[in-house]
Amino acid sequence: MEYEIHKLSVKYKTYTLILLFIATLTLYLLYVQSYAQLSQSNLLSTLEYPNNAVLKYFKFSANSTEEINVNITTDPDYLVYSSKCRIPNVDPFNEEVKHLYKIKPYTKCTKLPLLTYITVNETTAVLHINQTAIHHYSQNGVFCCYSSVTRKEDKKNPDATINVSKCEEFDNNVTFSEDFIIVECNDVLLKKQVYKNVHAAIRINDSVKKKMENQTNQKQLNILCVGIDSVSRLNFMREMPKTRSFLEKNKWIELQGYNKVADNTYPNLMGLLSGMNESFAYEKCKPFKIGYLDKCKLLWYDYRNLGFITGYAEDESNINTFNFHKKGFLHEPTDYYFRPYMIAAEKKLKSSKVDEMTYCTGPETSGERILNLAKDFAETFRKYSYFGFFWMNSFSHNKLNSLSRMDNKVREFLEEISKDDILDNTIVLFFSDHGLRFGEIRYTHTGWLEERLPIFFMLLPEWFKISFPNKYKNLLLNKSKLTTPYDIYMTLQELLIISERNYSIVPSTACAKCKSIFEEIEVNRSCEDASIKQHWCTCGGYEHISTGNSTVKAAGEFILNKIQATIDSYTKDSKKCAKFTIKKIMTASISSNGEDWYKNDTYLLIILQTKPNAVFEGTVSVENKEGRLDFQMQGSISRLDYYDPHSHCVNDSNLKKYCYCNR
Ligand SMILES: *[C@@H]1O[C@H](CO)[C@@H](O)[C@H](O)[C@H]1NC(C)=O
Ligand SMILES: *[C@@H]1O[C@H](CO)[C@@H](O)[C@H](O)[C@H]1NC(C)=O
Ligand SMILES: *[C@@H]1O[C@H](CO)[C@@H](O)[C@H](O)[C@H]1NC(C)=O
Ligand SMILES: *[C@@H]1O[C@H](CO)[C@@H](O)[C@H](O)[C@H]1NC(C)=O
Ligand SMILES: *[C@@H]1O[C@H](CO)[C@@H](O)[C@H](O)[C@H]1NC(C)=O
Ligand SMILES: *[C@@H]1O[C@H](CO)[C@@H](O)[C@H](O)[C@H]1NC(C)=O
Ligand SMILES: *[C@@H]1O[C@H](CO)[C@@H](O)[C@H](O)[C@H]1NC(C)=O
Ligand SMILES: *[C@@H]1O[C@H](CO)[C@@H](O)[C@H](O)[C@H]1NC(C)=O
Ligand SMILES: *[C@@H]1O[C@H](CO)[C@@H](O)[C@H](O)[C@H]1NC(C)=O
Ligand SMILES: *[C@@H]1O[C@H](CO)[C@@H](O)[C@H](O)[C@H]1NC(C)=O
Ligand SMILES: *[C@@H]1O[C@H](CO)[C@@H](O)[C@H](O)[C@H]1NC(C)=O
Ligand SMILES: *[C@@H]1O[C@H](CO)[C@@H](O)[C@H](O)[C@H]1NC(C)=O
Repeated sequence: MEYEIHKLSVKYKTYTLILLFIATLTLYLLYVQSYAQLSQSNLLSTLEYPNNAVLKYFKFSANSTEEINVNITTDPDYLVYSSKCRIPNVDPFNEEVKHLYKIKPYTKCTKLPLLTYITVNETTAVLHINQTAIHHYSQNGVFCCYSSVTRKEDKKNPDATINVSKCEEFDNNVTFSEDFIIVECNDVLLKKQVYKNVHAAIRINDSVKKKMENQTNQKQLNILCVGIDSVSRLNFMREMPKTRSFLEKNKWIELQGYNKVADNTYPNLMGLLSGMNESFAYEKCKPFKIGYLDKCKLLWYDYRNLGFITGYAEDESNINTFNFHKKGFLHEPTDYYFRPYMIAAEKKLKSSKVDEMTYCTGPETSGERILNLAKDFAETFRKYSYFGFFWMNSFSHNKLNSLSRMDNKVREFLEEISKDDILDNTIVLFFSDHGLRFGEIRYTHTGWLEERLPIFFMLLPEWFKISFPNKYKNLLLNKSKLTTPYDIYMTLQELLIISERNYSIVPSTACAKCKSIFEEIEVNRSCEDASIKQHWCTCGGYEHISTGNSTVKAAGEFILNKIQATIDSYTKDSKKCAKFTIKKIMTASISSNGEDWYKNDTYLLIILQTKPNAVFEGTVSVENKEGRLDFQMQGSISRLDYYDPHSHCVNDSNLKKYCYCNR
């Protein structure tokens, strides 16, 4: 989900004021003072980089006869430790953030058992009324009707409109041959609606059947992607301990150094699905124009064209990855496309919000709807090659503590799909796009770090480890390496080769050096190598520096001017937005390169509060050019406060991020 940047190439006028500061400033630090303004602790500033990280001898059996020995460099203080990347292993419950954390309870959307359910038999599905549940709804008995939900492919808004047919009455049960249905039941005597729900049936029609038959002489490998929006590695540890312990116990492999490459969902998921960077993903795929995303080179098209059965579902339809202020898809991008189902659930049922997200859609939570679809999909096609992409926003996006409500449900989901032989031939990716992007935690160093480090877990089938011991070994080694969505893009391509499909791997346009996580990449990988802009890079630490420092003040003004220039570039709407002035610089940090660090560049990381009230975070490089200070933005500028309430006067998603509407 989204509040994003797409005009990266805004031209800024040169900033001349900084000349005034030349005389008084010198660039390189002699000493560093700590002024933690918002927190008592000073986490990153106290970290010392040890020169000799611990080597751990690590042994595993690929199969019963062969042992593979690898040395993994690990250090308890670091998630990643190399000469070019040191990501500190911060305590998720440290003093800086502990007080922000609070477990929230799971809330049921109804206390009653569901009145209807469906069973699916290949081509046909049956909608049933659960006879033993009726008395919970009415003492008089119920009469029910159902309507089908289809995608309208409306010219103006093909991906946002649904067609709902007339409601047909039925008794006990009815056979239907649509993908999605709405069912409603009324009290027989009172003629009052007592129940309404939507169901999705994963039916197998002729074209899917052909695909399945065609797979008989092909290697089977399934890819199941399950994502939860805005889940950092640290917040996952705080809020989903049960899910996390399940993953650990069951040997899911974690990429501890999985670093996002851009601000929000679209560019990070596009990195993973298309290998493109943010500006390219907007330029090439033109998501603001109808039909262009359909032509965009997304990996699920390759999977589909190579005979895999594909599926995609996402909740909170207003803010879906490809739809938030975008046009989405003209035609269904995957064989199974559940967007109409979620639109029906959100728009046609009584929904209720929790933490400003659509938590309940009728009697079920939105999140569980996605989990159930993922489970159904994985079960239905367990014997066939598939690529499924299931993404959840509704219980994680806005607030730090929302996630905890679903710990049990997500764990149960993972337990259930791990049963029987459902995942025998399946590689599961369980991941997120970034951490929480706004709110109080973002004013802390921990918040800075975790926003950039989303969760990434992977499960491999046992036979995969045996057949490809070297790939497995690389993955184990790479768990403590810096990785990005572009590496996953390469990995998903390699999986097409591994499944023996006729496919040629192409490099990621955003990151020529990125490689599959099953491959060997250079040991000392820097953010530059991985195409991670300094603003998002967690490899080097920062130390606090006085907010009163004149270089800091100049950098703050520089960032403010960039913000203003971005707003001004929207000539039509810019007047609707207030002009910002700096109220105060909340925190300032300087890159702490240390003696053995591989580069000498100086970066300032600045969080500033403006008038009217908004909070921005920017990273600038500082260079002393012949006595003159030269600042350059390093990536885009983050907005740290929850700006939605103040940005309704404009529509462009990027402008929204920077705009505070004039009254
Ligand atoms: C401001 O910070 C810079 C960089 O850390 C330092 O070189 C400079 O001496 C500081 N200036 C003042 C006036 O403290
Ligand atoms: C285990 O590995 C050895 C050596 O690579 C190989 O000969 C053997 O067939 C493998 N066993 C199984 C069960 O895959
Ligand atoms: C692992 O490290 C140990 C100690 O440094 C060394 O003796 C051993 O040869 C290494 N093993 C491998 C597989 O690199
Ligand atoms: C589906 O239902 C039909 C009868 O309606 C039955 O003959 C058939 O065996 C069923 N197929 C499966 C796969 O259960
Ligand atoms: C029907 O409802 C009862 C509770 O009244 C529940 O125990 C049962 O599992 C439901 N059956 C199905 C198939 O959902
Ligand atoms: C939508 O429903 C209307 C009326 O039921 C029907 O005429 C139309 O063909 C439907 N459109 C699609 C795309 O199913
Ligand atoms: C549908 O309901 C009828 C009773 O009205 C029952 O005989 C039949 O078995 C049910 N069909 C299914 C598929 O459950
Ligand atoms: C079946 O597979 C072959 C090669 O894998 C492919 O050329 C053909 O188009 C496929 N047919 C269908 C109906 O998917
Ligand atoms: C078959 O079902 C798939 C998945 O629902 C759908 O994408 C496709 O258009 C359907 N094909 C036909 C011929 O109905
Ligand atoms: C994004 O990728 C394209 C294609 O490789 C490249 O030309 C462009 O400079 C990149 N943009 C940024 C902001 O890195
Ligand atoms: C992956 O593992 C290989 C083999 O150990 C290593 O050389 C490479 O640096 C790792 N890849 C990354 C991205 O760190
Ligand atoms: C960093 O600066 C120091 C001192 O000026 C210099 O000796 C060193 O070579 C520089 N390192 C790099 C990587 O530029």
